[in-house]
Amino acid sequence: MTPEERSGALARIADEVRTCQRCRLATTRTRAVPGEGSPDTEVVFVGEGPGQNEDQQGRPFVGAAGRFLDELITTVGWRRRDVFITNVVKCRPPGNRDPEPDEMAACAPYLRRQLEVLDPALVVTLGRFSLGTFMPGAKISQVHGTIRPVDPGTGARAARAVAMYHPAAALRATNLKETMRDDMSRIPQALIDARAARPAPEADEPAAGPTAPPDALEPIAEPATPELQPIAELVPTPEPAPVPEPATAPMTDPIPVDPIEPEMAAPDPPEDLEDLDQLTTLEVVIAPDRSPETDQMRLF
Ligand code: URA
Ligand code: SF4
Repeated sequence: MTPEERSGALARIADEVRTCQRCRLATTRTRAVPGEGSPDTEVVFVGEGPGQNEDQQGRPFVGAAGRFLDELITTVGWRRRDVFITNVVKCRPPGNRDPEPDEMAACAPYLRRQLEVLDPALVVTLGRFSLGTFMPGAKISQVHGTIRPVDPGTGARAARAVAMYHPAAALRATNLKETMRDDMSRIPQALIDARAARPAPEADEPAAGPTAPPDALEPIAEPATPELQPIAELVPTPEPAPVPEPATAPMTDPIPVDPIEPEMAAPDPPEDLEDLDQLTTLEVVIAPDRSPETDQMRLF
């Protein structure tokens, strides 16, 4: 799809969502919240459902949880408009109650169609309802910060999912804030790994824009290395940090499934390494070859 086709298709889905009556949430919503961000992104964040602020503004993650999400996105050098943000249900459950199974089922086709259009490399799940959509049966406390392939039936035909807690949960339990920052710091590497796992674009529909390198259509057989990545930059953040830490840190999860293991290994840490909390940040440019139509935030 061209950038124009993608934004047109997303706009049509959003129009349907705004007038949708497929479930009871239509009767209590102020405004439906289809989603927003870059139609050309490779990274989609999926939350649970709109809260009060979102219901009033028609935009996802604009309250306190949204401010924390923005902060997290910023910590890896990305901006909100570089990614796409949406929810499992597009209308607010009254009183912020959990969405009901039949509401999620009624709304699922919208998320599926959005993912078909966006064709992301990486889906970031926020909270347990989003987790349930992309990693059925998984427990958030066990899988947060880990990555695994996404069932193409979700609409994301060649993606991996990273599980994160919900930012609202982190606002209630401050120890989760650090956990979320830590999980977020692994996401640029997760994107690199997720890209490497995607098949080459079909020859009759090159995804690469005119500025893409000529080898962009080659299958990527090996795990990500700087030479194989068609991305603009991969540089360690010039932190005052004494030691460029765990690029190679093992995941602390008891059952990490295909954990995010940065390939951009820093040199082996010295024996006397003390500060293990400092993570190396990769500067990874999202979708450099999708020739975005615009750099502006798009509401859908
Ligand atoms: N919580 C969510 O899950 N989604 C939003 O859009 C806002 C808060
Ligand atoms: Fe339609 Fe989804 Fe809103 Fe229900 S939650 S009315 S299915 S858009």
